[in-house]
Amino acid sequence: KSTAETQHSTKIDVSAITGGRRMRRNRRSDWSRRLIRENAITANDLIWPIFVLDGENKIQPVSSMPGVDRLSIDNAVRAAEKAAKLGIPVLALFPYTDPALRDDTGTEALNENNLTCRALRAIKKEVPEIGLMTDVALDPYTSHGHDGLMRDGVILNDETVEQLTRQALVQAEAGSDIIGPSDMMDGRIGAIRQALDCGDYLDVQIMAYTAKYASAFYGPFRDAVGANATLKGDKQTYQMDPCNSDEALIEAELDISEGADMLMVKPGMPYLDVLRRLKDSFAMPTFAYQVSGEYAMLCAAGQNGWLDQDRAMWESLIAFKRAGADGILTYFAPKIAEALANK
Ligand code: PBG
Repeated sequence: KSTAETQHSTKIDVSAITGGRRMRRNRRSDWSRRLIRENAITANDLIWPIFVLDGENKIQPVSSMPGVDRLSIDNAVRAAEKAAKLGIPVLALFPYTDPALRDDTGTEALNENNLTCRALRAIKKEVPEIGLMTDVALDPYTSHGHDGLMRDGVILNDETVEQLTRQALVQAEAGSDIIGPSDMMDGRIGAIRQALDCGDYLDVQIMAYTAKYASAFYGPFRDAVGANATLKGDKQTYQMDPCNSDEALIEAELDISEGADMLMVKPGMPYLDVLRRLKDSFAMPTFAYQVSGEYAMLCAAGQNGWLDQDRAMWESLIAFKRAGADGILTYFAPKIAEALANK
């Protein structure tokens, strides 16, 4: 018999093959797909990172991040009002520091009237119902663009931790609700917790950048805060190696024992496995940061007509929920929250 004849005479019995299981049954109609859906995004899942700029009435587009602007404080307050109205729980503030204010040691980070502190106070006053998160790291303030203090080309750990601790206190004093140490120095979570507790900031939360990788996906962010032009070398001696994930578990163990309230994995999409491991291992509130490069990538492909940006955006965010995230830091936050509100 020829192959064709054999095929012709064989009646394929799919029900026998699958044991009667028909996975497509549940997918047949929209109501059924909605009914069996395991994960969803709500506005409550979102943290919106914004870039703040000196001056008044300024909106300065970030060219590598379409739709994202640096905002002067008055406009940051408007953004906070919008976020609160949409039900976004938290804004994360990142300063674009005037290059003239940057120096070797990031002195401006400790200035209680720096951009971040002024933005904190202004937003707290006008929009008290929104949570505010601030970044603890020296890179927006150093002339060399590194997150820590540098001597002979080496990023010093312990000296940096002292400075970061003071930076965290200055931010807490100005009204920060969540301290987000993104610097990856050893011991900084414990040091900051201790300082906050001694300084009467028992209730200020810490979201540890637990598994922060030395990633190419931060490029547009460094444009946005003006650290790209100045950065000397790379951050591989403090940020994690993209080849590793066991190391993330140890980082998490340390952060938790040192007093972190929440953990974060960063970047997001390329590190969903790490997110899942952390969530499964520690059952802590765990967040993913969909970073600037991920945002830029989706926008660029969308603008070129290479993919449907809207659908890709939703799919990328639900992937975080599926992988165990309790929330997501994403530059898409206002867009998503608006779409949810209009549904
Ligand atoms: C600073 C910091 C970075 C990001 C958040 N905080 C950049 C870096 O570590 O170089 C990146 C965020 C993004 O790319 O969206 N320590």
